[in-house]
Amino acid sequence: MGSNPLQLLIAIQKAFNHVPDDAICRVASALGLPISRILGDVEFYSFLSREPLGTYSVLMSDSITDWMLGSRELFLRLCGNLGVSPGVTRCDGLATVGKTSCTGMCDQGPALLVNGIAVANLTDERIDAISRLMEKQIPPVAWPDEYFRVESNIRRRGWLFQDWQGPILEGEVLLQEMTDAGLRGRGGAGFPTAKKWASCRDAPGSERYVVCNADEGEPGTFKDRVLLQHCAGRLFEGMALCARTVGAKRGFLYVRGEYRYLEAHLEAQLAARRDADFEIELHWGAGAYICGEESALLESIEGKRGIPRVRPPFPVTFGLHGMPTVVDNVETFCAAAAIAAGGGSEFRSLGTAGSCGTKLLSVSGDCARPGIYEYSFGVSVSQILEDCGAGNVLAVQVGGAAGSCLDASEFGRKICFEDLPTSGSVMVFDRTRDMREAALNFSRFFAHESCGFCTPCRVGTGILAQAMERISEGRGTEEDITEIGDLGGILKASHCGLGQSANRAVRDMLRKFPEHFEGGVN
Ligand SMILES: Cc1cc2nc3c(=O)[nH]c(=O)nc-3n(C[C@H](O)[C@H](O)[C@H](O)COP(=O)(O)O)c2cc1C
Ligand code: SF4
Repeated sequence: MGSNPLQLLIAIQKAFNHVPDDAICRVASALGLPISRILGDVEFYSFLSREPLGTYSVLMSDSITDWMLGSRELFLRLCGNLGVSPGVTRCDGLATVGKTSCTGMCDQGPALLVNGIAVANLTDERIDAISRLMEKQIPPVAWPDEYFRVESNIRRRGWLFQDWQGPILEGEVLLQEMTDAGLRGRGGAGFPTAKKWASCRDAPGSERYVVCNADEGEPGTFKDRVLLQHCAGRLFEGMALCARTVGAKRGFLYVRGEYRYLEAHLEAQLAARRDADFEIELHWGAGAYICGEESALLESIEGKRGIPRVRPPFPVTFGLHGMPTVVDNVETFCAAAAIAAGGGSEFRSLGTAGSCGTKLLSVSGDCARPGIYEYSFGVSVSQILEDCGAGNVLAVQVGGAAGSCLDASEFGRKICFEDLPTSGSVMVFDRTRDMREAALNFSRFFAHESCGFCTPCRVGTGILAQAMERISEGRGTEEDITEIGDLGGILKASHCGLGQSANRAVRDMLRKFPEHFEGGVN
């Protein structure tokens, strides 16, 4: 935690159920920073609050897959049981019940966070039992263990989950092997990993850093959660190999706050490492999807609000504290370590011409077997649907809220950088579903998660969400439909990928399932 303002504020929030104004002043004075900077942090990160929250602070996961599993009804049930209004702390200070964007438990939803720790597989009975435990003021540590059990649901293992044990390649040899293997980033954009590491190594700077992006905020994505649980050693090995290649002495693992339940496990894995030359520090997020964007993530590690930087310069030349920095996804570091341990030639033999190797997919929604599936790139959507036990499928959302919505005519399309690039989210909707609900959920998500820095995104996501609210309530107009289509032009001018992709899924849904929206338009 040291002198990092964000980590200090998270600790204060935990200790006092809020960040009191005098603590803001003290943190500012202790760190020699302006009060406005600390205040900015408290107001930016949704897990921090200036107002006291209840002894039990509950946040219900609000992603579309949670909705599909009944989270909205469970939310009202919990509020009713406790006699609280959403977001308002009960007058005796017992509880505050609110909502948060996706908690990364889509394969075992509905889920909630209680005092920051995930409880999955919610049912009416579990909500009633939790309500009683709170009324009796039983602390969460004394609640039944099964409430906090998070399943890994690994349904299909492939190359990445193999136990590669060959002699470890390093430095230039490793870079060549990664280039030959065709390793590209697994966080979504698919940048060639060896090229990124080499650029960082060659950039001028007195220090270098290695950062692992485990923010995993894209709705429907939870594969990094499973890798952190099962392959933390492999991940740290990948980060250390990167550090040795680029010449870094310090690394950071940035984990979304929703995965706090993994803290003891990750700390233990870090403690078991014996590498005096490369130190890895855990850094926790605090409920801001935008911090997954690499430059926002670096700002957040520096203890600031997660506002994306102007790029170029890119992190490889101007990263953490202005020094050359590699930022890679969890799966990318794990793949690099497996390639270093002898997996390169098999990796190269898998996948398609432009997308070598395998990809972990997080499959959720209307299917019999939600969970993690590892496939060679090039797998068709219909194959995934067959394997996960999805029948009568209306639509598949690939790539989360920022991705593409496919109708049945497109299920022959393939997961790969050439066709359907994705960080791994696959959400299935069967024919009982109303795609208006998904469009409403995604548009609210973007309006809520926009960091507000640039006008096209701040205003555009707000207009989109308001239009979808009207359409969902049956008060929409033809102008709303036209406006949603036209918003693409405005959002394209946004500063970062969040704004640029904010209306993509809604636009797809309107075009492919117009009949779902007709009832909402007068
Ligand atoms: C709004 C937004 C959110 C993002 N969230 C994540 C994330 O949660 N995890 C991730 O690895 N990359 C995320 N990215 C991509 C990162 O900016 C970056 O490209 C990635 O971490 C690079 O690692 P890779 O080359 O290993 O894929 C996000 C990008 C945007 C625009
Ligand atoms: S596009 Fe949205 S999230 Fe990105 S910088 Fe602009 S306001 Fe922030």
